[in-house]
Amino acid sequence: MSWINSLMARSFGRKPKKTPQPGFVFSPAPAAREEPVNKKTAASTAAFPRFQSTAGDQLSPRLNDRFAAARIKLRSAFTPSQPITDKRMFAGRIDVLTTLIRSLEDQRVHVIMYGERGIGKTSLVHVLTQAAEEARYIVVYCSCGAGSTFDEIFRAVAADVPLLFHRGFAPTADAAEKGGTLADLLPAGPLSPRLVADLFAKLTGTRLLVVLDEFDVCESPDFRRNIAELIKNLSDRSIRTQLVIAGVAADLTELVQHIPSIRRNIFALQVPKMSAAEISHLVENGEEISGMSFDKAALDYIVFVANGSPYFASLLSHHAGLAAIDNGRSSVTLEDVSMAVDQALTEFRGRISKHSQSQIDQAAKSGVRHVLGVMAGAALFNSGRFDARDVDALYPSAANAATFKATIDELASKHILLEANEDEYGRGYHFAEEAVLPYLWILAAQKRFLENRKAADAQVEAAKAGNKAATQPQSQDNIVTPEKAAVQPTVATGRAAGRP
Ligand SMILES: Nc1ncnc2c1ncn2[C@@H]1O[C@H](COP(=O)(O)OP(=O)(O)OP(=O)(O)O)[C@@H](O)[C@H]1O
Ligand SMILES: [Mg+2]
Repeated sequence: MSWINSLMARSFGRKPKKTPQPGFVFSPAPAAREEPVNKKTAASTAAFPRFQSTAGDQLSPRLNDRFAAARIKLRSAFTPSQPITDKRMFAGRIDVLTTLIRSLEDQRVHVIMYGERGIGKTSLVHVLTQAAEEARYIVVYCSCGAGSTFDEIFRAVAADVPLLFHRGFAPTADAAEKGGTLADLLPAGPLSPRLVADLFAKLTGTRLLVVLDEFDVCESPDFRRNIAELIKNLSDRSIRTQLVIAGVAADLTELVQHIPSIRRNIFALQVPKMSAAEISHLVENGEEISGMSFDKAALDYIVFVANGSPYFASLLSHHAGLAAIDNGRSSVTLEDVSMAVDQALTEFRGRISKHSQSQIDQAAKSGVRHVLGVMAGAALFNSGRFDARDVDALYPSAANAATFKATIDELASKHILLEANEDEYGRGYHFAEEAVLPYLWILAAQKRFLENRKAADAQVEAAKAGNKAATQPQSQDNIVTPEKAAVQPTVATGRAAGRP
């Protein structure tokens, strides 16, 4: 069986449910559900998978699963496929949020937030929105689509602002009383940035924040030019409307190239990867909401593999929690996280093209997959780019670094998973397919975490046996510590972001 087959078998082959162990803390199922049930019903329930809760989040009355309630709680504690909308679940980012609020409030600039996929831009925008609403701002959130137009977006924004806040309407005026909005004042033809600015110039008694999320999805140059012109108009006339733009972008030049002078009206923020403490905080929030607990080894494993990504952390915590529930436990162990990592690998592999999958399998056979994985960890938060400096940072021994650089060069020259290119930072490498990055990184992290742990256990055993000789780790280069794997890529990201 190939390694991937065995991986998939491991991922899909759930362990049989065990009888709850002592220390098990879920409340027992109601007595009615403990009663013997009709055999035919039980057989058919077991035979065919069912949804475990109704669309209204009620437990299915037909279910004889004492853990169904725990599953529901876990689902809302970790939401890997949805941004955070509830402040209670929002971890870390206090400095980032403070900076954003200060820029909007004190400097009255427009904000552009950019960063890698899944780094938490939309979650940050939601929490910022809540803070602004608490301060009585009117906040209109728009998620941009590929076909979004300036006209469509700003008509929708105007439709969310009550006429009550228009200088020309007294609060008791008929139209304002009847729930009219600024959209009622717009002409039929296409909207221009000047016309929108003219309309917002009449706002009184409030401030308007227009959030344009997933901005990168709309590539229309017309749309971007109009937004840049609107920013210029709003800033020049000190209008009580500010834009918050969020999206995936290597930098901002695409947006501001239309009107370079808007640079001083903009605060640009690259959303950084999360620190280990922030990732731990994310898991702790989930523990509180789900009522489950993650033991120290489980938490360490999640922090290591997440490598600063809230998305990875949320995904792994969710899968690991389910694995624990499947085994009748409310405490999540290292083994549960191992299962979660396997499951994540299966999911990520499914997102990679067949061509790259076979190249990765070849790389595994020739022993270079691990080097690629470590580099993927560095490139994950750097728009998929890494260079020789990342190799030096991650492999301190010069001899090993030279070997790895040669390997990377060879792969790039043969267009195997990598492409080499010259940019303003010198010679760099890109992964040809974005989807391979999380897969390669998680494979490498899984291997290293488990090896490091084994080495640490061996050290403890050797120390116990008084055998000091056996405690020496083999090679520093071969061990990717959380510091190397998780912290060094931040340096790489910072370097790229800082434009030295
Ligand atoms: N501060 C946070 N605390 C807890 N979880 C977070 C936080 N930030 C993000 N997450 C989790 O990480 C995942 C990705 O977050 P989000 O959707 O906000 O990222 P994004 O940068 O907008 O992604 P995309 O680039 O795909 O639009 C979600 O599962 C979300 O629940
Ligand atoms: Mg988003």
